[in-house]
Amino acid sequence: MIVINSAAEMQTIAKSLQKQGKTIACVPTMGFLHEGHLSLISYAHEIADVVITTLFVNPTQFGPAEDFSKYPRDFEKDCLLAGESGADYLFAPDEKDMYSEGFATNIHISGVTERFEGAFRPTHFDGVALIVAKLFGCTMPDIAVFGQKDYQQTLLIKRMISDLNLPVEIVVMPTIRREDGLAKSSRNKYLTEAQSSKAKMIHQALLNGRSAIEKGIRERQEIDYIMAKELSMDLDFRIQYLQSAKADDFSLPDNFDPKDDIVLLAAVYLGNTRLIDNELVKA
Ligand code: PAJ
Repeated sequence: MIVINSAAEMQTIAKSLQKQGKTIACVPTMGFLHEGHLSLISYAHEIADVVITTLFVNPTQFGPAEDFSKYPRDFEKDCLLAGESGADYLFAPDEKDMYSEGFATNIHISGVTERFEGAFRPTHFDGVALIVAKLFGCTMPDIAVFGQKDYQQTLLIKRMISDLNLPVEIVVMPTIRREDGLAKSSRNKYLTEAQSSKAKMIHQALLNGRSAIEKGIRERQEIDYIMAKELSMDLDFRIQYLQSAKADDFSLPDNFDPKDDIVLLAAVYLGNTRLIDNELVKA
């Protein structure tokens, strides 16, 4: 696997790969790779000729009080893991190369960004859209692979691809979980041992919502109540949202239609660590 630090060099390589008729798959990450990221890289390796994994802890998607400076990093290990999983290139640009002096462009996607993560992290998705557009500009992919773990992120990226006519096919892969159900996340590293063993309750809450829907419950508030029942009693957890919504547009009907795909979304603090997760319940 070849490590590239310069945006210009990455573009030159991508252009030359395109000329050779190779299909390029891009897997954007912020590093500290775990099995979730690696599943995306392995899948990209199966479906494209060349895999470019990107590694950039993007400052513009962190709010001022968030964990940008302490976000976990382990470059050496990431190189090993990405290479083993099938990445041909690791694009790890410098911050100065991504946001040079005089940088003045913003991307704001409305609608799908407004609820849930967007409500609690108001500048987050502008930062995500901007960096993903830039990473696509550098790696020029035919396909980009994302995880369902960040469900709302996948919706806004699909929106941006469509709105900006970007010639990239978006593939979304399932969430990889620990055996007890906790979604793998770079931020799980922040949890103490005691918190780590309790963290599975977040996924359990989503599964309670799923079984309510599968039993035929369609009243939105009842589904939300069932999900919150146990978690809200436990003072170690602080729920930001634990809600059901229509999976395609995040609308909040009083009663879901049996034909609706429903997404169950969670953002929960466990101590000082903010964890997100979701379950998609297909009609
Ligand atoms: P990061 O949190 O590093 O995640 C990179 C990719 O891995 C995302 O597509 C995310 O959904 C996916 N992922 C994370 N945990 C996963 C899991 N347990 N199972 C499957 N996939 C998982 O998401 C970002 O970085 C950034 O916002 C980024 C898109 C790179 C822009 O900076």
